[in-house]
Amino acid sequence: MSAPRARGRSPRPGGGRPRGRRASPTGPGLTVAVTGPTGTFGSGLVPLLQDDARVARVVGIARRPFDPAQRGWTKMTYRQGDVRDPEALRQAFRDADVVVHLAFLITGNAPRATTRAINVDGTLNVYRAAAAVGARRFVYASSVAAYGFHADNPARMDEEWPVRPAARLFYAQEKAELEHLLAAEAAPGGGPDLYVLRPSVVLGPDTVGGKDVLPGPLAPVGRWLFSRPRRLPLPVPVVVPEHPLQLVHQDDVGSALLLCAVGAGPPGAYNIAGDGVLTAGDVAREFGALPVRVPAAPAQLAARALARVPFLPPVAEWVEAAARPAVMDTTKAREQLGWRPRYTGLEALRDTLRPRA
Ligand SMILES: NC(=O)c1ccc[n+]([C@@H]2O[C@H](COP(=O)([O-])OP(=O)(O)OC[C@H]3O[C@@H](n4cnc5c(N)ncnc54)[C@H](OP(=O)(O)O)[C@@H]3O)[C@@H](O)[C@H]2O)c1
Repeated sequence: MSAPRARGRSPRPGGGRPRGRRASPTGPGLTVAVTGPTGTFGSGLVPLLQDDARVARVVGIARRPFDPAQRGWTKMTYRQGDVRDPEALRQAFRDADVVVHLAFLITGNAPRATTRAINVDGTLNVYRAAAAVGARRFVYASSVAAYGFHADNPARMDEEWPVRPAARLFYAQEKAELEHLLAAEAAPGGGPDLYVLRPSVVLGPDTVGGKDVLPGPLAPVGRWLFSRPRRLPLPVPVVVPEHPLQLVHQDDVGSALLLCAVGAGPPGAYNIAGDGVLTAGDVAREFGALPVRVPAAPAQLAARALARVPFLPPVAEWVEAAARPAVMDTTKAREQLGWRPRYTGLEALRDTLRPRA
């Protein structure tokens, strides 16, 4: 499914009266508002916004306070805010020409109602606030997961292939649902042009980003453990399926987001993945393990069976992502946005494991 071009509507639920789209940037250069700038995607995007002469100002919205200047993000003004608060969003987006929406809960460690309020309602709040202030472009980070893990998915999916909710994984269900909801919001026209990126798994030095990998009080431990992935000291044998997967580096996701933010190509949906399709065995080897390969089919069958177990905790629902391959064709992003990833999938993995000072 390609996300349709926005055509606006009035009045907007929760969005007030749209002021109409800005015809040109306010003053010299764009003002770009970014929700969730402190996560993995923000770490790829914000340095590019900082260095780009077309961008004059950046507004960063997150719940946890941070000092943009300490990160070298001198164009950014931090606005504390929550995507569940429409008024805070409208205030923060006041002068925005472009809104890039990255705020999301991914791991599923929060209660389901909270996750839905932030991910689904929050994303609609952000789109409507962007429309209410007359932003010209809305850039949303969807995911390969929006395609779902279905038996009839083709070997390589392009953007014409429909996004369909997965059977169990809340994240994939919300990503598919949101693409449909955003397309419906944008369909009447007049609002911001809708850009939807569908990246594969994203790696790089900030892979953990703003995520709580472990629940509750274990969250700081999880962040410490997973934020420094490194090779094993000894080659431990591990059983891994030949399941195919694509990876992409955070800097290459950042460059795709930037191209959308400046309107380098037409609005719509874009698949984003580094070159090359790896297997879980390739990943294990890069970690210094000794992969003992098993064929993909039985492992995928086991993942499907496990995903059907009732009352799985949300974080365990991620097993469904291994139930069937979801491999994307990225030709459209290259041809229409002019996107050129600097890292292959394997190089993205190696950069993640590279020791850092
Ligand atoms: N990482 C991947 O592999 C991957 C792959 C495909 C697609 N995506 C999508 O890309 C987007 C960004 O992912 P990411 O990996 O950068 O996420 P992340 O590392 O978990 O960062 C999430 C960001 O959102 C902010 N946030 C969370 N809840 C918020 C709320 N209620 N209000 C305002 N801000 C909030 C967080 O800051 P605070 O907690 O301080 O608010 C943080 O800045 C998501 O939509 C994700 O689904 C990610």
